[in-house]
Amino acid sequence: MFNNNKKQIDSASQLDLDRIPKHIAIIMDGNGRWAKKRHLPRVAGHKQGMETVKTVTVAASKLGVRVLTLYAFSTENWKRPMDEVNFLMGLPVKFFNNFVPELIENNVKVSVMGLIDQLPEKTQKAVRDAVAQTSQCTGMILNFALNYGSRLDIRTAMQQIAREVENKTITVSEIDDALISRHLMTGF
Ligand code: FPP
Repeated sequence: MFNNNKKQIDSASQLDLDRIPKHIAIIMDGNGRWAKKRHLPRVAGHKQGMETVKTVTVAASKLGVRVLTLYAFSTENWKRPMDEVNFLMGLPVKFFNNFVPELIENNVKVSVMGLIDQLPEKTQKAVRDAVAQTSQCTGMILNFALNYGSRLDIRTAMQQIAREVENKTITVSEIDDALISRHLMTGF
């Protein structure tokens, strides 16, 4: 990390700003364990996780990360107890209700990937409003994976590509890495 080339070093964090990753993805895990350690209910861990998202978002944006993807709710998470799912579905509402002004202040643009249409109405609205309110921001993209799964992403991309071949919009030999990336929800 350190060298003699007078590279720009962030003195507070000791990070080499020339080597900040363009895209960071975080799998949000350990909320339940965090809460258990403190003899708190699991949902207290999720609430704390949401606060940590705010800190990480501002820090990543200031460091010049281009895309921060947060795996917040997977397609498998519906199997959790109903109370926990309901609590999780309320978090984006709380998060965006009080954090959007700070996101705009930091020029952060909100984006989402996953089957948003299947989320409760209030969650959908909070997410869609945040996307609209930050649509003019040109800085870091804060990308939430909500009701997202990698198999879902691959299946959806394959269906779209197959449809394009069927419609003769593309030929099979035109299917390359770039085309696949463009069809994935993760394709930034
Ligand atoms: C995994 O921890 C975490 C989750 C399933 C949910 C994390 C999501 C949030 C905090 C919501 C943030 C969303 C927005 C839009 C702000 P776990 O329960 O698997 O923990 P464990 O591994 O310790 O059991």
